[in-house]
Amino acid sequence: MAEMLELRVNGAAHQVDVAGRRKLLGILRDDLGLTGSKYGCGEGQCGACTVLVDGVAAKSCVAVASALAGREITTIEGLATGDKLHPVQQAFIDHDAMQCGYCTPGMVMAGAALVENNREPSDEQIVEAMQGNICRCGTYQRIVAALRQAAAAPTGAGDRQEAAS
Ligand code: FES
Ligand code: FES
Repeated sequence: MAEMLELRVNGAAHQVDVAGRRKLLGILRDDLGLTGSKYGCGEGQCGACTVLVDGVAAKSCVAVASALAGREITTIEGLATGDKLHPVQQAFIDHDAMQCGYCTPGMVMAGAALVENNREPSDEQIVEAMQGNICRCGTYQRIVAALRQAAAAPTGAGDRQEAAS
């Protein structure tokens, strides 16, 4: 039997069926057509499915959707402000911080959570913050360089709200 619940995703409310302890990733991809978040391990180990829940990075493949009522969920599709890329998205392009790209949406979301809270992360802090995200193509050095740039971006992190207002 259906168990309908309102979820807020990228600033919009959606009525979704959360019956059977459905995970957020399936709802995003299958019900809402938001396929940017990827299915990797399905066990919370690889980070390909990372989204933001109230600004905090979360593995959507293990997040029980019924527990997310009233929370603000942001996916890679909702990260840019209009046609202006988020500083982390721009930095990944600038540093060519991807190869196959499968891990990239999750990396970008985890990185966005990091730079939102730390404008001057050390390389060690970046590595620590990105521990839950695996890149099988081994682009880690370029990802670290990208996140260093994004954290320092003039329109990055805390400045973004101001720029958007
Ligand atoms: S698919 Fe969610 S952590 Fe791997
Ligand atoms: S770019 Fe291929 S898994 Fe990261």
